[in-house]
Amino acid sequence: MSTTTLAMSFLRRLDPERAHNLTVWALARGLGPLDGGSDDPVLACQYFGYDFSNPIGVAAGFDKDARAYAGLLRMGFGFTEIGTVTPLPQVGNPKPRLFRLPRDGAVINRMGFNNQGMEAAAGRLINRDVGGIVGVNIGKNKETEDAAVDYEACAERLAPFADYIVINVSSPNTPGLRALQDADVLTRLITVVRAAAERSRKGAPPPLLVKIAPDLTSGDKQDIAAMALEQAVDGLIISNTTIERPDSLQEPASTEPGGLSGAPLFALSTAVLGDMYKLTEGRITLIGAGGVSSGADAYAKIRAGASLVQLYSAMALKGPGLVRNVKTGLSERLKADGFARVTDAVGVAFR
Ligand SMILES: Cc1cc2nc3c(=O)[nH]c(=O)nc-3n(C[C@H](O)[C@H](O)[C@H](O)COP(=O)(O)O)c2cc1C
Repeated sequence: MSTTTLAMSFLRRLDPERAHNLTVWALARGLGPLDGGSDDPVLACQYFGYDFSNPIGVAAGFDKDARAYAGLLRMGFGFTEIGTVTPLPQVGNPKPRLFRLPRDGAVINRMGFNNQGMEAAAGRLINRDVGGIVGVNIGKNKETEDAAVDYEACAERLAPFADYIVINVSSPNTPGLRALQDADVLTRLITVVRAAAERSRKGAPPPLLVKIAPDLTSGDKQDIAAMALEQAVDGLIISNTTIERPDSLQEPASTEPGGLSGAPLFALSTAVLGDMYKLTEGRITLIGAGGVSSGADAYAKIRAGASLVQLYSAMALKGPGLVRNVKTGLSERLKADGFARVTDAVGVAFR
């Protein structure tokens, strides 16, 4: 039995939040697994002015406080995203607030942006000594009334260390957050965040992305797509967790309030991704997230319009060896379908 398999069977016995904290602790100390192999050249791609050796990234929420990004990159991810970071530290919702649904291949969380705040994140990013692409996902403190003030503060403080910034307006666990997806409200947020990032990066702000929920009406999607094109946002991340509970769920924990992620989110988030690809006419870089646990899943996201892919829940359920399997499965599928570069497969489902 490998050390990683042993560690996973130990972690699965622990309360999910403790297991997660222990994993982050280990990664922060360089104790995580290393990806020995190099990436297949078919997976190399360029977005936002960066070279990605593969398009598979870690979704936000895993490394909320920027402790583990170096370990995650060493595990073989092509990029990672810290956060969601808020201006002030906050404890989040009462525990328990993280639930595994193993038979459903799913997770439910209602963490509520527990994080140590932007100063702590800045302190860990400032001495970044690893290469690799690290995005910064920002949000608001629970008690803040004017959300724009918080997004502005985070952008100003963290833009100098961010390879890209994500405006997260889609977590279901902060009251009122998803209402910020209204196109007019979002336009104001983007303007404020962009100006703050420009100031603190002296005129050269990092790429700006918006992360959206899967639970949107067709009107919402149309408005967000039009806004994204008008505001020339650099990318959209599709999607966050869902508040829906598909009938297929078997685990008793499926009735817990919060956001559902993992396998039962795959179809819904991929459908929204495809809708947004069509509505933005392929003119905006899309990052597909939601239920990816294999090369086939990643390939389906790419065919539906994702240029890059992120995952979280599958790693929590299956362990870190997953990233190598996803990359291998993806390159096999690309080659079998005659694609020389992963970029050539983006959106082919609609061509
Ligand atoms: C425990 C947990 C915490 C999360 N926290 C955040 C967060 O802080 N910010 C965010 O934008 N997304 C957060 N997410 C959502 C993920 O980034 C991702 O969008 C979603 O889980 C779908 O991907 P998956 O099915 O691969 O997990 C969280 C997800 C989980 C499971």
